[in-house]
Amino acid sequence: GNVHYYDFVLKETNFTKLCTTKSILTVNDSFPGPVIRVKKGDTVFVNVHNNGTYGVSIHWHGVKQPRNPWSDGPENITQCPIPPGSSFTQEVILSTEEGTIWWHAHSDWSRATVHGAFIILPANGTSYPFPDPHGEKTLIIGEWYKGDVMAIIDEALATGGDPNVSDAYTINGQPGDLYDCSKETTSRFFVDYGKTYLFRIINAAMNEEQFFGIAQHNLTVVGSDAAYIKPISTTDYIMITPGQTMDVLVTANQSPDFYYIASTPFVDGEVEYDNSITTAILQYNGNYTPSSPIPFPSLPSYNNGTAAENFRKLLRSLANEDHPINVPVNVTRRIYMTISINQIRCENAPCSGPGGNKLAASLNNISFQTPSVDILQAYYKTLPVFTNDFPEEPPNYFDFTAEVVPINKSFPTLGTKVIVLDYNESVEIVWQGTNVLNGAENHPMHLHGFSFYVVGAGSGNFNNETDPKTYNLIDPPEVNTIGVPKNGWLAMRFFADNPGVWFMHCHLERHSSWGMNTVVIVKNGSTEATSILPPPKYMPPCS
Ligand code: C2O
Ligand code: CU
Repeated sequence: GNVHYYDFVLKETNFTKLCTTKSILTVNDSFPGPVIRVKKGDTVFVNVHNNGTYGVSIHWHGVKQPRNPWSDGPENITQCPIPPGSSFTQEVILSTEEGTIWWHAHSDWSRATVHGAFIILPANGTSYPFPDPHGEKTLIIGEWYKGDVMAIIDEALATGGDPNVSDAYTINGQPGDLYDCSKETTSRFFVDYGKTYLFRIINAAMNEEQFFGIAQHNLTVVGSDAAYIKPISTTDYIMITPGQTMDVLVTANQSPDFYYIASTPFVDGEVEYDNSITTAILQYNGNYTPSSPIPFPSLPSYNNGTAAENFRKLLRSLANEDHPINVPVNVTRRIYMTISINQIRCENAPCSGPGGNKLAASLNNISFQTPSVDILQAYYKTLPVFTNDFPEEPPNYFDFTAEVVPINKSFPTLGTKVIVLDYNESVEIVWQGTNVLNGAENHPMHLHGFSFYVVGAGSGNFNNETDPKTYNLIDPPEVNTIGVPKNGWLAMRFFADNPGVWFMHCHLERHSSWGMNTVVIVKNGSTEATSILPPPKYMPPCS
């Protein structure tokens, strides 16, 4: 592959949206940030220079980084943040990824404004598994807060309550026609009649999954998370979780006009959320008088979990000769992991969370505590920062999805507990959604360092006898992020063939802030070629 060099300068820049101006952290003064555009198998060096006021790190979401956790980026997991006034060059090593992924800051909530597209074209001499599109468009769904995002999460963690919801969703940084002071800047995607465009859609929103559609236009989904899928072509909406990316073909075959593109939240839990709608315009080139009102897509209602599940079930790997799958058929390691919203006691005075406690979250009832020295460095130098005792089974005392969970069972254990895998183990993880604290929700679970195959999912509690018989081992989708159904389970498999330290977490930012995280450490194999690369000469220091 080729080698590319990018310069990312983090700095505060003023932006005006929703009638007010505020300063946000950006990369190279742009929001969304710059696009990285390379080919399959290339290597990218990104010199990240922090001219902001606080430490930040950058993650390449969906890049497996074979043997190279050093440049993965999550703060206090694989590095300490880059201090203001200094830089860190990250080496982003591409391997099997092809399609669309993205990059984002991975420090507290800074990813709200620090993110951008990462586009991986087919390698030289190869082509898309579909006819070449006439053009392509990048479309990033985001969230805009009038307040300062770092202050919003800090305050929520201090008071124990839910963080403020955003004030707008955005498409390529613009809220769209339905919000105050936003009509002039609505994002427009210009198309020629009769042509087909590849839309690279990224959900960079902080806390909300989204239903997305374009009025009167079919969406043909051909890829997700930088892996091609069997085309899904009859759908008029897609469901895309924070962290997910989708490659979608759209043919401009309707009468020349303006058509609304819209994205609206999918929230199936009893939570506060931003219930606004962001729009952009698909605008045909040419001379005509646009319809009034502009046609609007019909999207499922905000709590339509069936619509979300129906879409997720359509995802299937291509699984052909050019794009084979590599799913473990026999499993050597099986981890059953509950996902819960919890509460923890406030140290001094009561908090404003439920019952005077603080909201928290957990995996297998362990609420992850972020260490002050990154886990990768601690692992490499054997510093006592974490323990290897993440439980492989949940505490077995309740029906996970029942409506009522005893209140004394809603308090998790706090700890920095990690999962350690031997090199190349065949792993299955079953994520089990729970209704602890009446907090059943769809959770978009994300794993760094891998893509994994979604082999099964269902409602209720996972049944170890019957559910594995329903697994799809023929063409399961290969993803890096997937929504685990509300009050249900989802099983995924992968080979632990990437030695390193890899973060696993819910991609709803408030859940991750509350502790819905763990770390997977894959040990070195027996040869140098199956071992973690040596550290770069410089890593940002831990203060
Ligand atoms: Cu999108 Cu931990 O990342
Ligand atoms: Cu979650």
